[in-house]
Amino acid sequence: MAIPLLDLKQQYAAIRDEALRVTAEIYESQLFILGKRVDDFERDFAAYCTTRHAVGVSSGTDALLEALMVLGVGPGDEVIVPAYSFFATAGVVARLGAIPVFVDITLDDYNLDPAQIEARITPRTKAIMPVHLYGQCAPMDEIMAIANARNIPVVEDAAQAVGADYRGKRAGAIGAMGAFSFFPSKNLGAFGDAGAITTNDDELAVKLIDYRVHGMRPKYFHHVVGGNFRIDALQAAMLHIKLPHLESWHDGRRRNAELYRRHFAATNAGERVVLPEELPGRRHIYNQFVIRFPEGSETRDRVMAHLKSVAIGCEVYYPLTLPQQECFRDVPGAHDAYPNSDAAAAQTLAIPIFPELTEAQIAEVVREIVQGLG
Ligand SMILES: Cc1ncc(COP(=O)(O)O)c(C=O)c1O
Repeated sequence: MAIPLLDLKQQYAAIRDEALRVTAEIYESQLFILGKRVDDFERDFAAYCTTRHAVGVSSGTDALLEALMVLGVGPGDEVIVPAYSFFATAGVVARLGAIPVFVDITLDDYNLDPAQIEARITPRTKAIMPVHLYGQCAPMDEIMAIANARNIPVVEDAAQAVGADYRGKRAGAIGAMGAFSFFPSKNLGAFGDAGAITTNDDELAVKLIDYRVHGMRPKYFHHVVGGNFRIDALQAAMLHIKLPHLESWHDGRRRNAELYRRHFAATNAGERVVLPEELPGRRHIYNQFVIRFPEGSETRDRVMAHLKSVAIGCEVYYPLTLPQQECFRDVPGAHDAYPNSDAAAAQTLAIPIFPELTEAQIAEVVREIVQGLG
């Protein structure tokens, strides 16, 4: 039986009736832009993230872009980002005419290495943007200490980490702002594109609300140049329906992570397969379960080909580091060494982790990975 990397249909079955009812209500009302549906979601999402404010936006990319815009990031400024992440993390910096300054990651959590940040700070550093990759928080105590000592704002790229915790704090509640993606594959996924920005800062919240509609306040008076970063009322309503289920979906993913650990421990794979670690004081929400083959890309690619041949979904996130992307070839620092990011790109593979997976399916995935190792 095929095992997909992600099966959203099972999750949909649990909320189908309510989703269809609310969709019909919105269609009947013909109220699609902002309004009560967005307000309700923002209130409850802020409560979930333990922040004073949440501002719904059109995507995770726009959440990052708008967060940097309200900080005034512009041409010639520098923003520190990990060398290994989804493209948007660095793409938004470049779109503002600023320079993404890459810092290598550590392989125990695939996140920004705090020991390497200070050397990359200059008088032009306008923000530090750690990513909570795959659903586990970056080492925020160390990052915040470095940033606070220099008054540099931190924007958390929490796109993959809704509900992740770090030493009693929640992703998106630690830095100046947190940017979330509700792309359908995220633990909290919309019915299309959507995102949000969280903050505890009242002034930033006002700016975020203004920049979301072209820097407008009051209507048709534009005091800054923003954009159209609005979340659709339909998406906000779907996310609002899903939010009460989110903790149980996290639980399912965390249970599956434990099952993988148990089933791998019973094989002879040993150190040939490195499983994701949940570091002390962090709650991983396993948006992805990413395993690593320290032998290198040949082994990873062989296992991937085998899994595909037996219809088990898997994916390489991400085959290139950010400095290796063609569009960043002229960025200063693009040709420096980022050995851990290179290793992550060459050696990792994401395997199914969605909450509804059964133990029998997990056992099968493990069996086939061991088979593919040869
Ligand atoms: C780390 C990271 N940052 C930013 C984004 C951008 O989010 P979106 O796809 O909603 O624009 C993503 C989405 O995949 C992501 O994984």
